[in-house]
Amino acid sequence: MNRKKMNKIENTTPRSMVVANQPHATVSEQFRILRTNITYSGVDHPIRSVLFTSAIAGAGKSTIAANMAVAYAQAGVKTLLVDGDLRRPTTHYTFEVPNRKGLSKAIIDHVPPEDMVTKTEFDKLDLMTSGPIPPNPSELLASKSMEALMNALAINYEMVIIDSPPLLSVTDSQLLCKQADGVVLITDVENNDRNELLEAKDLLDKAGANIIGVVLNNREERRGPNEAYYYAEPVTES
Ligand SMILES: Nc1ncnc2c1ncn2[C@@H]1O[C@H](COP(=O)(O)OP(=O)(O)OP(=O)(O)O)[C@@H](O)[C@H]1O
Ligand SMILES: [Mg+2]
Repeated sequence: MNRKKMNKIENTTPRSMVVANQPHATVSEQFRILRTNITYSGVDHPIRSVLFTSAIAGAGKSTIAANMAVAYAQAGVKTLLVDGDLRRPTTHYTFEVPNRKGLSKAIIDHVPPEDMVTKTEFDKLDLMTSGPIPPNPSELLASKSMEALMNALAINYEMVIIDSPPLLSVTDSQLLCKQADGVVLITDVENNDRNELLEAKDLLDKAGANIIGVVLNNREERRGPNEAYYYAEPVTES
């Protein structure tokens, strides 16, 4: 996928599910490598929830979070993908499911979390879409009800993947990282600003996040003189 050639894409466009549709593609292998790296980054304290975030908008968080959720499910891991972006959610578009229930409703209505979860075509993968967009996302994400919800979900799932808004725009990801065992920072190599990345890291450090790695998204891979395509390269570190 060459992003340069892509036309302006609406937020409602499903994000590409390459892991499901092209399991043998190089990029799908990159997602499986990232899955392995995440597993090995938590030997003493197993990583059972991961937040995907970025410094600025459009780095590829939702695309990577959705593909990683499928990659875990394909490995037989009971997985939940939570759309923690209560401002510009996309998960329900990607999986083409309704968004009447989901995270915002689960937090506000205190209903059993399983009632707010949507099944997918993948056996081991469930979704918690964003739910209706609330007027006060940060307040919801910082609430005791959110903490209780995440604790309940941790009992039902072996892996919880959380999508989120960009760090430098709103405080939501700093709040969400407290609910995750590990945080992966995603950056678009074509729109990569060192200072913004450092600022993002600083915000995560201040929030006490366990940063387990960085993904360089949209990196061009040259396989031969005439062959080039784009993929996400995991650069995890422990
Ligand atoms: N490696 C890639 N190659 C080609 N297109 C990509 C790649 N990664 C993401 N995209 C596309 O770029 C756009 C932005 O990606 P995505 O929505 O996943 O980013 P995001 O970080 O979640 O954005 P936001 O901050 O708005 O939530 C989407 O149209 C997505 O399909
Ligand atoms: Mg997104």
